[in-house]
Amino acid sequence: MNTSITENCAETEENVGILESNSFNRKNIDKLDADLRQLVERRDALGPCYRLFYQEPLHLVRGCGTRLFDANGVEYLDMYNNIPSIGHSNPVITEAVTRQLQQINTHTRYVHENILDYADALLAKLPAEIDRVMFMCSGSEANDLAIRCAQLYTGGAGIIVTAEAYHGNTALVSGVSPSIGKDVAMSPTMRMIPSPDTYRLGTDEIGEWMCAQISEQIADMRRHGIQFAGVLFDSIFSSDGVIPGEAGFLKPVIDLVHKEEGLYIADEVQPGFCRTGEGFWGFERHGIVPDIVTMGKPMANGIACSAMAVKHDVLDAFAEHNPYFNTFAGNPVAMAAAQAVLNYLDGNNMLEHTRDMGEKLRNEVRKLMAAHPQIGDVRGAGLFTGIEIVQPGTTEPDRPLAVALIEKMRENNVLISLCGPYGNVLKVRPPLVFDATDLDIFISALDISLTAICE
Ligand SMILES: Cc1ncc(COP(=O)(O)O)c(C=O)c1O
Repeated sequence: MNTSITENCAETEENVGILESNSFNRKNIDKLDADLRQLVERRDALGPCYRLFYQEPLHLVRGCGTRLFDANGVEYLDMYNNIPSIGHSNPVITEAVTRQLQQINTHTRYVHENILDYADALLAKLPAEIDRVMFMCSGSEANDLAIRCAQLYTGGAGIIVTAEAYHGNTALVSGVSPSIGKDVAMSPTMRMIPSPDTYRLGTDEIGEWMCAQISEQIADMRRHGIQFAGVLFDSIFSSDGVIPGEAGFLKPVIDLVHKEEGLYIADEVQPGFCRTGEGFWGFERHGIVPDIVTMGKPMANGIACSAMAVKHDVLDAFAEHNPYFNTFAGNPVAMAAAQAVLNYLDGNNMLEHTRDMGEKLRNEVRKLMAAHPQIGDVRGAGLFTGIEIVQPGTTEPDRPLAVALIEKMRENNVLISLCGPYGNVLKVRPPLVFDATDLDIFISALDISLTAICE
């Protein structure tokens, strides 16, 4: 295989933080053509924290549905971006935003119908016990507020997450996001359980296994004088490598959390809004009711908009001492976009579509396994699929091959990325408007790319 691609990787194999899993190495800037090089150099003004995808960064200028177009007019199938879930440049968003911008855009300190109508519509999608919703601009802000609410309600500080979790970038939330980067300070009151790696753990009793891990961490908190406040889980464990597990496996886990007087914060930033195809929210697959639900990314198809939905008694504990204002959050334009997304999802049966297309996609990838033993596992729910790239006949992750593969897929005009503790899981997560033609293109590109690299 072509090792030069992997030699150019920015990260080492022991440190595949979520932001490093597919990133441009600035040392290779001289290899870029003059125009691209100039743009990348101009990004120096943004400072050194940002990462660009791909060894040759992609300069995208236009999107439509599941397709993206670069500055040279090259068309790509977008199999990665979940934010434009109802499609890039969907006119329903343009119209909703334009109409509202032409009228007024203010904030939540004035009365406006948009936020009220949307709050009603959103709460109607949630279990009845969750009866309050507050708006923010990012998933990080929503998780930040959720943790503060859980801590105030329980009187504890201890939060449990999975070992590869990413929940956001505020001071509080980065402290409970182990995959953000190995040098980022973790909160001393945070405890991690290993990723529920169904592929390698060799147990069907994943719920029982997780309960044992959680009990161990709660005991450890107690030994250190830390009171348990709750768990913060993304129910499809995206950054842990896309691990849907058997539907229902989280039920005993959340029962245990409640028995231990902790709260369950469901981070629906990734699995929410029909993504998993089996329910509007990812947690629905497990028949559980969270205490707090956070959401963002696809909520307004790219307009900054996020939310924390919560049981009223949990919110009341926070509200007693904390007024809250967030300048741009819940503004009439963001609410108009979010409402347009909900209307589109409902009006176009996107839940059923997502479930059907997701199943078809995984079935087609599984058909490739005989010819390509480097595909070790194909798992997912709805249009969120993880494909393990391994050394044939083993469960040993093959990260160099996975990195080469996403580069080769890009050469074949398909965009995907990587995730998981070993950085070897192809993360396949197209806009939900993904259709049968897209599926053919994806499968053919995966087949051709694996053949080109491995033979
Ligand atoms: C599961 C999960 N939670 C929270 C966040 C943070 O969201 P944002 O980037 O909007 O702050 C992310 C972002 O990738 C995420 O994947």
